[in-house]
Amino acid sequence: MRVLVTGGAGYIGSHTTLALLEAGHDVLVVDDLSNSSEESLRRVTELTGRTPGFVKANVRDEAALDAAFAGFTPDAVIHFAGWKAVGESTQIPLTYYRENLGSTFTLLEAMAKHGCHRIVFSSSATVYGDMSEPPFTEDAPTGATNPYGRTKHMIEQILQDVAAADPSLTVGVLRYFNPIGAHESGRIGEDPKGIPNNLLPFVAQVAAGRREKLMIFGDDYPTPDGTGTRDYIHVVDLAAGHLAALGKLAEASGYHVWNLGTGNPTSVLDIVKAFEKASGITIPYQIVARRPGDVASSYADPTKANAELGWSARLTIDDACADAYRWQSSNPNGFADA
Ligand code: NAD
Ligand code: WQD
Repeated sequence: MRVLVTGGAGYIGSHTTLALLEAGHDVLVVDDLSNSSEESLRRVTELTGRTPGFVKANVRDEAALDAAFAGFTPDAVIHFAGWKAVGESTQIPLTYYRENLGSTFTLLEAMAKHGCHRIVFSSSATVYGDMSEPPFTEDAPTGATNPYGRTKHMIEQILQDVAAADPSLTVGVLRYFNPIGAHESGRIGEDPKGIPNNLLPFVAQVAAGRREKLMIFGDDYPTPDGTGTRDYIHVVDLAAGHLAALGKLAEASGYHVWNLGTGNPTSVLDIVKAFEKASGITIPYQIVARRPGDVASSYADPTKANAELGWSARLTIDDACADAYRWQSSNPNGFADA
């Protein structure tokens, strides 16, 4: 299958591009490198012996996208491209609406024009907000509590409307829980710019000596050890979920939503312990106030994806910490070390 992957140079996109190439698919990545480096794709080539096509362009660029579709004639699209920092989205909401919604409009129009009828979209567990209690099934109430989350929620609704209007279009919305880890080679991984917002890259940078200590945001939540719990999913399992969804869409029609998570809640302190075990390094930490907007607990009910996609998460938190540490310790400054 020929798969056009927007945002394919990024964290989840590069791992998925690798999995697609390994499975024998052809890939064209469209990425403006606003939050990534082309080095990730060079390493995908090094690991797979296959080279994905690459177009450096913003997905909102109609002419560039038109040329990409005309030249590659994709059978399916995976749409990772998007801005994703929750805090930043409250500071520059218009940028988030412009990039995330605008790229989706341009992409859907190019798909319609070029007769491409299958799309997998990167959504987020953030759409479950704080309206109900985990484990979340796909029919739990949705909404969002910040501009980033609202872009995901709006795009889901747009995709649903477009699929209802065009019966030839098949849509798979994947709601990711908390992606962590790296490829087991340690050659590709998460490379956040500046101070990491997310727990795992922050812990990894403390272990690597780039940051002094971890701040744990609250230890008074109603969870077993008082720290927040999340459903951390290894990025390699997540990548496999995209291949499973593409396979399912080939035989399905209409609009589908699947949770990609493990179903297991893990606390911040559990992650610290797992990372210490994987790295042999003590992670200094300090308990500080809760982070505004955080929920106590978020985890998936992945039953629907397990049954309908024949997919389930296979790798453990220990695997993810070992792989994240291998990536961080061999690339202390991420792809900038290349
Ligand atoms: P990432 O920033 O590493 O990857 C996104 C990629 O898209 C980057 O390479 C960036 O350069 C590119 N990009 C952004 N806007 C673009 C545009 N308009 N045109 C072209 N390229 C553009 O992020 P990631 O963690 O790999 O996330 C991938 C997707 O998954 C995003 O849509 C994100 O919102 C979603 N998601 C991520 C997480 C997470 O915790 N990492 C969780 C849930 C959902
Ligand atoms: C995990 C836990 C923190 C950092 C975010 C987005 C969500 C999705 C995934 C894209 C929480 C605690 C964290 C730190 C800490 N992204 N923590 N110290 O908030 O579950 O989800 O990323 O869609 O939309 O909101 O992930 O990794 O930031 O936090 O104590 O320095 O770690 O309080 O309990 P979160 P996270």
